[in-house]
Amino acid sequence: MPQVVLATKNQDKLRELRRLLGGTKIKVLSLAGFPECPDVKETGKTFEANAKLKARFYSKHVGGLLALADDSGLTVNALNGRPGVYSARFACPGARFAQRSTGTGPGCTYQDNNKKLLRLLKEVPLSKRGAKFVCVVALAEGGRCVSVVRGECRGRIAFSEKGRLGFGYDPVFIPKGSIRTFAEMAPHAKARVSHRGKAMRAAKRALLVYFRRAG
Ligand code: IMP
Repeated sequence: MPQVVLATKNQDKLRELRRLLGGTKIKVLSLAGFPECPDVKETGKTFEANAKLKARFYSKHVGGLLALADDSGLTVNALNGRPGVYSARFACPGARFAQRSTGTGPGCTYQDNNKKLLRLLKEVPLSKRGAKFVCVVALAEGGRCVSVVRGECRGRIAFSEKGRLGFGYDPVFIPKGSIRTFAEMAPHAKARVSHRGKAMRAAKRALLVYFRRAG
């Protein structure tokens, strides 16, 4: 049976990735099944570099199986693309230090990040609050990358946090064409338009092609 290991230690992402990979015959495993697997430092300067780095690294520690890693984050126009690849550790002192792939940086929570973002955009009018979520998914086997796909979701930053669903910047991000934040949307509604939903639909196609070729 075709198998893939979701290579993330961020439980929120794991939940979304699992749901997004549903509906195929592919058996989905997580790193929990590989307790000896070491942690990786995300030192890349782009989403692509980090996704590949994580997929390659973890694929060497999952018993020859295919590893799927995602690197994602929020880029805000008024902040010249920040926090970008530093999204998880935006509010951490020394935010550029490499992070571990658990979702937030050392000593900095999702809420810290949202508060910092809203504070920096306090004087920024609606017309200049454009932002974009990006998600790059990489697949690797035995330390070699076999596929990389990307999904994006445009929107804007709200003036305050709204909603209790989702994770990370969801309470402050309103996707284009909506009046609700991601945190006010049910998981399936978020998945339809989200960066991760788009990237994972492409990754699913890549996985099916890969397993068909592998016979
Ligand atoms: P990384 O991909 O592990 O480097 O971290 C991505 C970070 O970007 C997360 O910890 C969140 O702060 C943020 N992020 C990524 N995707 C989402 C999302 O779908 N909703 C909200 N925040 C997200």
